[in-house]
Amino acid sequence: MSVDVFELAHEHEQVVFCQDAATGLKAIIAIHSTALGPALGGTRFHPYPSTRAALEDVLNLSRGMTYKAALAGLDLGGGKAVIIGDPARDKSEALLRAYGRFVQSLHGRYLTACDVGTYSEDMDEVARECSYVTGRTVAHGGAGDSSVLTAYGVFQGMRAAAEAVWGEPTVAGRTVGVAGVGKVGRHLVEHLLEDGATVVVTDVSTAALDAVRQLHPALRVVASTAELVASPLDVYAPCALGGALSDDVVEVLSAKIVCGAANNQLAHPGIEKALEERGILYAPDYCVNSGGLIQVADELEGFSFERAKQRATAILDTTRRVFELAKSDGVPPAIAADRLAERRMRDVGRLRGIWLG
Ligand SMILES: NC(=O)c1ccc[n+]([C@@H]2O[C@H](COP(=O)([O-])OP(=O)(O)OC[C@H]3O[C@@H](n4cnc5c(N)ncnc54)[C@H](O)[C@@H]3O)[C@@H](O)[C@H]2O)c1
Repeated sequence: MSVDVFELAHEHEQVVFCQDAATGLKAIIAIHSTALGPALGGTRFHPYPSTRAALEDVLNLSRGMTYKAALAGLDLGGGKAVIIGDPARDKSEALLRAYGRFVQSLHGRYLTACDVGTYSEDMDEVARECSYVTGRTVAHGGAGDSSVLTAYGVFQGMRAAAEAVWGEPTVAGRTVGVAGVGKVGRHLVEHLLEDGATVVVTDVSTAALDAVRQLHPALRVVASTAELVASPLDVYAPCALGGALSDDVVEVLSAKIVCGAANNQLAHPGIEKALEERGILYAPDYCVNSGGLIQVADELEGFSFERAKQRATAILDTTRRVFELAKSDGVPPAIAADRLAERRMRDVGRLRGIWLG
């Protein structure tokens, strides 16, 4: 990515480097904004090739969380954390608890949760040293696996996109390509099949493919994401890693809609315009994938799945609003989503300026 990492760091309220030599903990906590409330975002445990790569990732992700929370109508700001290391090799009770103590030291300005490489059980360990933890196990009053409502929300966003393109909020009779059938992709496949879509999937992991094929033996599988995006599709759902929408992908894509779970799908600024020029409706990633955030944020009120699901259902209307603003302002949906999120941060964020006495 061509961003200036220091420029991005200065766009943040606070960036904290944490280290504990004895446990091998090396972490970065980035708080992008607390304009709407405490910054909530998951902890990614990943073997980054360098501290710089970790910093760039955490800064981009935490910025995205600010916009995601704002557009989802939550009273939360945006933050994210990364632990540098191989989760399979380096994760230990002591390391997670050391990390918990650093999160605690921020006194609730940052609330953590699961992300790639961390699980609800890990959050239970973090919570032994820290009060500011979501995404905990159901046994500890947590929301459990957030991919359930993430997938549900992506499906709602896809319905809004289908309505905008084909007039009806359904993908019945359409062909949807899902790249990545991990936790979210697998649940999304369920919603799509239930709605009557034909689904084609791909994944680099045979275990992930086997798991989804076991549930749906008739599912069509292709060998690679390159093959998937070049095949005839009505909808493309990137559900693997970021940067899925590159110039090459946009050039070959036959789909009329892109709507998936992956964060930071646009490979570089300007790609949203390329999508529009090719007549492809892009449902902004952070707009449609906020179901998981909604799910874990609900823990702050004492978790209720039904209440969280109701909130995630609103992603249908939020995505509609994004498309409407895009049309009226004559901008791509990615820009319209930013405008809606920024408007809420400004209008609601300023209320704290009213002195309560
Ligand atoms: N889990 C959530 O609640 C949540 C919430 C918001 C956003 N997201 C985003 O959605 C995406 C998927 O999340 P997840 O929780 O399902 O993760 P996951 O790790 O369970 O699944 C990702 C899947 O993508 C596959 N994959 C990786 N590289 C690939 C490639 N090049 N081509 C095809 N498949 C590839 C992996 O093998 C894996 O099966 C991530 O980008 C994540 O940041 C997840």
